[in-house]
Amino acid sequence: MKHQGFTLWLTGMSGAGKSTVSDMLMDRFRAAGAKVELLDGDVVRTNLSQGLGFSREDRDTNVRRIGFVAELLSRNGVIAVVAAISPYRATREEVKAKIASFVEVFVDCPLEVLAARDVKGLYKKALAGEVGNFTGISDPYEAPLNPDVVVRSDRETVEVSVDRVWQELIHRGLITA
Ligand code: ADX
Repeated sequence: MKHQGFTLWLTGMSGAGKSTVSDMLMDRFRAAGAKVELLDGDVVRTNLSQGLGFSREDRDTNVRRIGFVAELLSRNGVIAVVAAISPYRATREEVKAKIASFVEVFVDCPLEVLAARDVKGLYKKALAGEVGNFTGISDPYEAPLNPDVVVRSDRETVEVSVDRVWQELIHRGLITA
């Protein structure tokens, strides 16, 4: 497979499936021999963004740092896959404006489904007031107005979601079939 450098940015609430979709995309990119790196919010917060919390300021700092690294990678021919809540529209737009090839994927899932799934047990804690500034509960999530791909993790399988992202990348000429 031939590919350009670009950033594939997955935004969505906690537990919506950003990491699941990006992990499968990573497998597919690697199997195709692509140069690819994953910047996952949960992982970035243990190194590059260690010590940052969940205030608007800290989230914006986190997202800008991820965007900075994604731009460096993309510019050098690498596919940068980003999985981060990145809840603020303006900050996502700011990052997007700095990256030549940027594809935004909105990993969407209704809050009721996320709270019922609650893989990490954080929704229960947030609803009980034990975790503050929680996205979708006590903190905003500003959904993209014009995402390039929308993935509905409660309505489609991961395979279908990954396939739709893949088709969009081919359609844009960022990867070859
Ligand atoms: S972002 O808002 O700065 O983009 P990021 O994707 O890095 O967030 O990290 C989100 C992860 O942090 C969640 O998946 C969850 O595991 C954890 N987390 C802990 N506290 C919160 C909170 N208050 N709001 C959202 N996520 C939280």
